[in-house]
Amino acid sequence: MEYTVNGAVQAAILSRLGADAEAVRLTVFDAVTSTNDLLRKAAEQGAPEFTVIAALRQTAGKGRQGRQFYSPPSGLYLSMLLRPEMTETLTLTPLAAAAAAEAVEQCSGAPVQIKWVNDLLLHERKICGILAESKFSDAGTPDYVIVGIGINLIEPEGGFPPELAEIAGAVFPAGADLHAVFADCAAGLISALMREYRYLPVRHYLDAYRERLCVLNRQVTVCENGTERQALALAVDDDLRLLVRYPNGSEQWRATGEIRIRL
Ligand code: BTN
Repeated sequence: MEYTVNGAVQAAILSRLGADAEAVRLTVFDAVTSTNDLLRKAAEQGAPEFTVIAALRQTAGKGRQGRQFYSPPSGLYLSMLLRPEMTETLTLTPLAAAAAAEAVEQCSGAPVQIKWVNDLLLHERKICGILAESKFSDAGTPDYVIVGIGINLIEPEGGFPPELAEIAGAVFPAGADLHAVFADCAAGLISALMREYRYLPVRHYLDAYRERLCVLNRQVTVCENGTERQALALAVDDDLRLLVRYPNGSEQWRATGEIRIRL
């Protein structure tokens, strides 16, 4: 596939970044297969930390658990390369969720919620998904982590496909200026990611994450290996493990996985 740089959107983002523009290596494409895949190739060739690839459309967007991520030309698809010193992959996903929530709120004024572990919701509909992918050295230290974020900025023309129609939402109303909201949100997202990453040692992102977490004291469905169990979500700890209680009274701390909120 041929990749065309969108110089106008790229310049608009850089102009909004202020001092952060110097640290970032940003490329914005009209369309790519997957920003995560493209960035992985750059990482393998030695690209530095804070290399960012963004696109207005993906033809093979990747979601969690091997799923596809629907990526029409009405969203923001962005991946940032990080080279942390420690094994921080699990931490970087909630960090990205907190940063994305802050960025979306800042550029839209909309109240964003976080559904454990890393989906963003607006009015109970998913507006953003996050996929972090890592490569480790033989010594077990991280070589790099790619944090990929997809945000539904505007409802796609003709609406979401049937399988997403009940669960997906968009940040801005139909008719919004895509390039303007893309540049605003991308700049906000890059700045928020860099800020939260710089404060990673003190886990600055935890407050932003907890404030927006919307699953506590709610009935949820825990999905695991094709099975589903009902449970009550009770608490999250500082590692953002979720404590759930099943109807038989047993309790379990869950480090990762998928839950659905029962409305
Ligand atoms: C999910 O909700 O399952 C995670 C979706 C992650 C999508 C983003 S879009 C930018 C980056 N490139 C990809 O191919 N995936 C991530």
